[in-house]
Amino acid sequence: MKLQIHVNALQTIGADLLIMPLFEEECPEKPKKWAKKFGNILEAVTKDFLGKKGEIQLLYPSEGKSKRLLLVGMGSAKFVTMEHLRKSLSTAASWVTKVRASKVTLALPECELETQDIAQACIEGLLLALYRFDRYKTTSDGTKPIKQLGVWTKSSLKAVQKGAERGVLVAEAVCRARDLVNLSPNEKTPEMLATEARADAKKWGFEIEVWDKARIASEKFGGLLAVNLGSPEPPTFMILKWQPDNALNEKPVVLVGKGVVYDTGGLSLKPTKDSMDHMKCDMSGAAAVIATFQAIARLNLPLNVIGLVPATDNRPGGNAYVPGDVIRMHNGMTVEVLNTDAEGRMILADALSWAQQYAPELVIDIATLTGAQVVALGNFVAGVMTNEDENAGERLKNVQEAGFRSGDWVHPLPMFEEYKDLLKSQVADVKNIGGPAAGTITAGKFLEHFTAYPWVHVDIAGPAWNGSGRHYQPAGGTGFGVKLLVEFLRMRVENALNTKEDV
Ligand code: BES
Ligand code: ZN
Ligand code: ZN
Repeated sequence: MKLQIHVNALQTIGADLLIMPLFEEECPEKPKKWAKKFGNILEAVTKDFLGKKGEIQLLYPSEGKSKRLLLVGMGSAKFVTMEHLRKSLSTAASWVTKVRASKVTLALPECELETQDIAQACIEGLLLALYRFDRYKTTSDGTKPIKQLGVWTKSSLKAVQKGAERGVLVAEAVCRARDLVNLSPNEKTPEMLATEARADAKKWGFEIEVWDKARIASEKFGGLLAVNLGSPEPPTFMILKWQPDNALNEKPVVLVGKGVVYDTGGLSLKPTKDSMDHMKCDMSGAAAVIATFQAIARLNLPLNVIGLVPATDNRPGGNAYVPGDVIRMHNGMTVEVLNTDAEGRMILADALSWAQQYAPELVIDIATLTGAQVVALGNFVAGVMTNEDENAGERLKNVQEAGFRSGDWVHPLPMFEEYKDLLKSQVADVKNIGGPAAGTITAGKFLEHFTAYPWVHVDIAGPAWNGSGRHYQPAGGTGFGVKLLVEFLRMRVENALNTKEDV
C-alpha cells in the first residue's frame, strides 16, 4: 500500500473515496464550504449533516476529481482522544469495502490533539477496521486491499507524514499479530510459530535465535518441558533481539510473551463451549511480542530490546503432567502442580528467570493468563501488575499512559504481600494455583517469584480475543498489546531524549 500526503486543493484529489470526518462543532459551516468545491447538489445534503457520532453519508459529487465523498460524524470535538479518533474512523471502513475503493484519501480532521497523533490514530482506526483473515476461505468475497492511501491536510506536512507512517506500520504490526492468533490450531505448532518469527526477523531486520527441545532441556526449563509432556509437538523457545548502534539504554527492556499455541487445559481439561473453543488465542502474548519487534525495527527505535517466547501446546497426552506433580524450574525452585490448566505461568516462569541474565532495566510479560482477568475487567481492558518497589507507581503510570494513548487500555491490580500466602505448598516451594479468590493477582504473585528486576505483568485474557467484533476489531484475534508495547517503548525513547538523562 502506497502512502501519499496531499496539500493541494481538496477538489483536485482523484480518489475512489474521499473520507471527510466532521465534528459537531464544524457543522454545518465546514460541509457547506466543502459543498462549493464539489458541486451544488451537495449543498442540500451537507446542510442536514450534523457531525453526530455514528452519522455517515455517502455522496456522489458532480464536481471535483474524487468519485465519492464519505462524510463521517465524529461527535463533539471536546475531550477528543486518540482512541476516539480510531473508533470514529473505523466506521468508514465498511464503505471502503462496499464501494470497492482502492484509492482512498482521508481529509485529516482538526481538533486539539497533536497533528502527528491525529494522523496516526485516524489511520490506525481505518486500517485496523479493514483487516480481513481469509487464509482458509476457498471462495473470495471480492474485497481487495487498498492500493493507495492518501492523507489531505492543511497542517504541518512533516508532522502528518510522520504520524501517518507510524499509523500504517503500527496497524500492519497489529494485523500481523492478528494473523498469527487466527491461524488454525492444526497448523499452529511451536515450530511453525518460530518459522513465522524467523521470516519476520529476516524481512524487518531484527535478530532471532530459536532453541529446540534439546537446548530447552539442557537449560533446565522444567516448567516449559512439563507443560509440553502431553503434546506430540516439541516446544520452542525464541529469543528476539533488537540492538541498534544508537541505543539509548545499556540494559535492555525484555518483553516476554506467553506462547501456548493451544490450551486444552491438559488433564484438567477445559469444557469446549466458550472456553476451549477459542484457545488458539492462548499465544496472543507471543504474537504481541513478535509483532512489536517488527514495529520497533521499522520505526528504527534507538532502544535495546530483547524478546522471549516460550511456546508449546497444553494437551492431555499419555505422558502429560498431572495434578500432584512437583516440577523443578529453571531457577531451581520447585512448583507443586495442582491444576494443569494453570500452564501459562509454568512456561512464563522459566522465561522470566532466563531474563535475569540480560540484567534488564525492565521486563514486561504479556499473557492470556487467567479467566479471572475477564471477570475482573471485562473484554476491553487488560490487568497490569508490578513488583512493589519505589518505582512501581512510575512504571504503572507509564504503562497506563501508553494504554490510554494506544487504546490498548490497562488497569492496575494490587500486589500486596498477603496474596503471596495463597500460593504456599505443603510439598514444594510454591503451588501453581491460589484459591478461588483473586485469581489474576495470585497468578501475578506466582510469576513474581521468578523476577528479580523491575517487572510489569500484563494479563490480556479478556481483550486478546473478540468473538463478535467491534469498532476497529473484526471478530477473532484482536492483536491487543502490540499498540501498547510499541507506544510504551516509543515513550521510553521520547522521555530519554527530552530529559537527556544518561541512560
Ligand atoms: N489460557 C487460560 C486463560 C484464559 C482464559 C485465556 C480465558 C483467555 C480467555 C489459562 O491457561 C487458564 O486456563 N487459566 C486458568 C487458571 C486456573 C486453573 C487457576 C483459569 O483462569 O481458569
Ligand atoms: Zn490453561
Ligand atoms: Zn493458557
